Amino acid sequence: MAMTGPASDVLRNLLQYGDLSFRDFVEIALYHPEAGYYCGAQSPVGKGGDYVTSPSLSSLFSHAIGRLIDEFVTRSNGAMCSFVDIGCGDGSLLRSLENRNVVPWGVDRSLMRAGQAAAPVHFVSSLLEVEKQGPHLLFSNELFDALPFSRLVMRPDGLHELWVHETDEGLDWREREAAEVYDDYFASHGITLEEGQFADVSLDWAAMYRDIASFSPQALIVTFDYGYRAKQLFHPRARRFGTAAAYSQQRVSRDLLANPGGQDLTAHINFDDLIRMGEELGYETLFFDRQAKFLLSLGLEDHPLLAPLSEAPESVEEALALRETREEARRLILPDGIGEEIRVLVQGRGVANHTWSFQRKLF
Ligand SMILES: C[S@@+](CC[C@H](N)C(=O)[O-])C[C@H]1O[C@@H](n2cnc3c(N)ncnc32)[C@H](O)[C@@H]1O
Repeated sequence: MAMTGPASDVLRNLLQYGDLSFRDFVEIALYHPEAGYYCGAQSPVGKGGDYVTSPSLSSLFSHAIGRLIDEFVTRSNGAMCSFVDIGCGDGSLLRSLENRNVVPWGVDRSLMRAGQAAAPVHFVSSLLEVEKQGPHLLFSNELFDALPFSRLVMRPDGLHELWVHETDEGLDWREREAAEVYDDYFASHGITLEEGQFADVSLDWAAMYRDIASFSPQALIVTFDYGYRAKQLFHPRARRFGTAAAYSQQRVSRDLLANPGGQDLTAHINFDDLIRMGEELGYETLFFDRQAKFLLSLGLEDHPLLAPLSEAPESVEEALALRETREEARRLILPDGIGEEIRVLVQGRGVANHTWSFQRKLF
């Protein structure tokens, strides 16, 4: 495939000195400070961008998170709480949560985008810059699936890692024996890949969660992301070719080396890495299930976007716009697409852990 795209010059320079692991290719394609996909002036997320996320799809999402914040604050007995959106993108979720009784923080390694920097939200590029005082609600949506990942494949002589090299025709794949750390990774999850099976893995999932979980002695960590527990994620038939995908203009493709810096690259995450890390650090796992179930348990039934229409819209245009807004809200909680595929993990430490509303039985 031809080498075109904003990050191509950077990659071409590097590839002169040797192949790049696919993980390093992703790091450059997504996060190179000048040419990376996430480092442009405009956020690629949203209905007019390359892909939608739950906060960018419907205001119903921020309504639900607002309810969670209120519950967190009520349980904190008057202590000043912080809400930290890690991997906040352009910060639109934070802005839609204004007037909640928390100190709002937005953390994103790709600062500063159009729309960020708006008071009263504190935007910073690392969790280390967030104030430590008081209880923290540490939230993320699609942070972990945006971390650079490696691509591995099992061959008759053992596990191989995929690397990228340049040919006269452009970029191509090359396989090398994988570093032992990946064999250890699968062994630690009790996973044996079948011959010919691919898997996409980031050692940063656990490392990043460790940083988040170590941040505050009083924290509720709420993680929304595409992913599964290890046994499902590395299932030899359901996901024989891994989960790596590229997104551009609301379309998915498997052409991971095309248009570097011009398309998103993502892989589903292994929630066992997060669950295990949190529990090792003294967290209790309070919830792990589908987004639809989590949002509904926060009590959305009475929201006007889901309730039957009380009066008919005045014009056809108004009726069409209303229908679209209501459909987008429903997509968050329908048992397919985003409502089904995104999982929510909640772990708590040093916070009142008696039954939260999201733990109530729905059916
Ligand atoms: C898929 S986007 C999600 C944006 C937003 N949370 C949403 O749901 O619309 C992932 C975001 O995570 C940010 N990110 C990636 N690695 C990060 C890190 N180590 N620390 C903070 N932000 C990070 C990226 O810059 C990007 O803005």
